[in-house]
Parts: sequence; C-alpha cells; structure tokens
Amino acid sequence: MVKIKLNKLREGVIPGPKPVALVTCGEPEKSNIITVSYVGQLSNGLMYVGIRPSRYSNRLIRKNKKFGINYMDTKFVKEVDYCGLVSGRDVDKFKITKFTKKVGNIGIPLIEESPLSIEYVVDEILRKGEHNIFIGEVRSIRRREIRVDWLFHNGFKYFGKNGSVGNVYEIGKRLINI
Ligand SMILES: Cc1cc2nc3c(=O)[nH]c(=O)nc-3n(C[C@H](O)[C@H](O)[C@H](O)COP(=O)(O)O)c2cc1C
Repeated sequence: MVKIKLNKLREGVIPGPKPVALVTCGEPEKSNIITVSYVGQLSNGLMYVGIRPSRYSNRLIRKNKKFGINYMDTKFVKEVDYCGLVSGRDVDKFKITKFTKKVGNIGIPLIEESPLSIEYVVDEILRKGEHNIFIGEVRSIRRREIRVDWLFHNGFKYFGKNGSVGNVYEIGKRLINI
C-alpha cells in the first residue's frame, strides 16, 4: 500500500480518475479555452468549474458571467493538453488547435468537435482553496450522437477506454511553435 501525505493531497495530488473538460469563455469574436479537471455536477441543472484567480479565463468568466463546458474524445488529447499549457493572454487557442467555433444559444463560444457542450450562466462564485468555484446554471445542451471514447486523467496520464493516451502537461507541447 502506498501512503500519501495529507499535505500532498492539499496540493491536489489525488491519484484517482478525474474528469477533464474544456471550458470556453469570452466573446464570440475574442474567445478562450481552458483545460480543467475541477469540473462536475452539483445538482440538477447545476455544475461547477474550479479556476484559479490567476487564469485569464477567470477574468473572462467574471466579466461575461457565462461559460461553456465541452467534454472531449481521446482523439483530441493533444489539443486538450495544449489548452492547459498556454494562456489565452498570449495565444488564440481556437486558432492553434483548429477547433471549430460554434456560438451557442446564449452567445458562448463552444467547440463544434465536442460530443457534449453545455452552456451556463454564472449563479455564484466561491473561493475554495486555490480556486474560484464558478457555479453555473444550465441554459442549453448540445449533444452529438456519435460514438465517444471519453477522455479523463489521473493527474499524470490521460486515459480513454483502452488505457493511457499521453502524459499530462507533455503531449500538448507538440502544438507549441508549430
Ligand atoms: C489536465 C489539466 C487540468 C487542469 N485543470 C485545471 C483546473 O481545474 N483549474 C485551473 O485553474 N487550471 C487547470 N489547469 C491549468 C490551466 O488549464 C492552464 O493554466 C491554462 O494555461 C490557463 O489558461 P488561460 O490563462 O488561458 O485561462 C489544468 C491543466 C491541465 C493540463
């Protein structure tokens, strides 16, 4: 048995399966994408995302009071990791990933390639640990009827149904300086 020190857990190193999603925010013309693992459903129609105050996306969501959650297939592991490596302050992530921007029902830029994109308006913003927790109320759901191999991770590696598909904070570097 491997023992993990409690202070390590406070740093976020919980070696279990975590979801991973792309949060989209900003305006249809000037949009951003951030990779998050602090994402989940709180109650019917309510989800949360945890985003550090230092992220550019944090500022955009506070300004517009809305955001999108886009779950992804393993085939986009490189793009997902890339969106967690670089900041929208410096690059246009839609441009580099070549994701198709699809403006949703309430004006949120969504990712066309996502099998499941959901639009939210911000209901409440909390401060918990290192993160701001944005609680969002669902406004619309866009689901594509395709076969999906959902992407998740354990803090170190990304996984799909057939096992590991790449290393976290590594595989996306292939899109830097292309
Ligand atoms: C797999 C993965 C999960 C991440 N999860 C989060 C998260 O839940 N919250 C967060 O603030 N940053 C998270 N990050 C880091 C941000 O995605 C990263 O700092 C990003 O460059 C911020 O982009 P922005 O400045 O354009 O908002 C994660 C990164 C990766 C690779």
